[in-house]
Amino acid sequence: MQPDLAGRLYHVIDTSGFDRALLDELCELTTRVRNIAKTTAGAQALQALLPHARAMLYFPQPSTRTFLSFNNACHILGIRTSEIRDPATSSEVKGESFDDSIRTFSSYVDVIIMRTPEAGYAARAAAQMDRIPRPVPIVNAGSGKDQHPTQALLDIYTLGRSFADRGGIDGKTIAMMGDLKRGRTVRSLCGLMRNYRDVRLVLVAPEAFAMEDDVKARLRAQGIPFTETSRLADVLPEIDALYVTRIQTEWDTAGESRGVDYAQFSVNPGNLPLLKHDAIIMHPLPRGPEIDPAVDDDPRAMYWRQERNGMWMRVAILVKIFRLEDRIAALAAAVAPEAPRPA
Ligand code: NCD
Repeated sequence: MQPDLAGRLYHVIDTSGFDRALLDELCELTTRVRNIAKTTAGAQALQALLPHARAMLYFPQPSTRTFLSFNNACHILGIRTSEIRDPATSSEVKGESFDDSIRTFSSYVDVIIMRTPEAGYAARAAAQMDRIPRPVPIVNAGSGKDQHPTQALLDIYTLGRSFADRGGIDGKTIAMMGDLKRGRTVRSLCGLMRNYRDVRLVLVAPEAFAMEDDVKARLRAQGIPFTETSRLADVLPEIDALYVTRIQTEWDTAGESRGVDYAQFSVNPGNLPLLKHDAIIMHPLPRGPEIDPAVDDDPRAMYWRQERNGMWMRVAILVKIFRLEDRIAALAAAVAPEAPRPA
């Protein structure tokens, strides 16, 4: 999120604006809204917060979870939604430019949530907003191979919640596995790691899909220790979290993915016993062969909860954008008094 001149939050384009205080606040807000929503009265009170607000979901790039979780997050707060998912149904087919399309959306709504196959387009839309008389916040829901900041936020929430009884994310060893070169989720997640103390990263990838140099250079500059390997079995016993990603075959130009030996980059009943008993397995989904469905029943499998966490984190993001934190705090006190936390 980029703070505006008053230090408040506005666009969500990449992970650069997120400090520890903001991350902690967003995570607390996420838990708070989901607790409020547990009662009918609480859910109704949430829906009464933004009935006058409208959101545009512009998703010309395919999406299931991010689209549905943002759509439902909007509805949880009473925000009405419009959508374009297939560019063939928009004036882009008549040759309207991206900039003109975004400006048009901004004429009708109060926030634009967008996913594009191109890197940098959310930033471009935000820059345009900052030049026009009626700007609206832009939320990047995935920009090409580059950034997916709201996924990284829900991943942080899931990590923090999983390690709540063990000192949180600080001090943990986190492995990221799969297509680290073309996967935007791992790039964005690496971008938030500077906010946690003594985190160690293990980057597990086929050689052809190793993490890009720009991310590694930033990790080095930030003093975050990381190692790179293509041998999952060696690292499984020493990690606290395994963040699995799929090979992003849609970016192939000459069948690059065909050479990948999935057996080396997958979790299955065969190698699961090597993982610590209290480690967690995450995945932004959708999955391919890299997680055997038999793993779903293992208590360490966190990806279905991670998916649901995403909707609540996106509610929290919208709450911040519309500056409703105080209303949420009041609702939490009135509708769902928080139980004392265990020591
Ligand atoms: C990811 C994405 O779109 O980058 N999916 C998601 O948003 N949950 C991951 C992927 O497609 O591999």
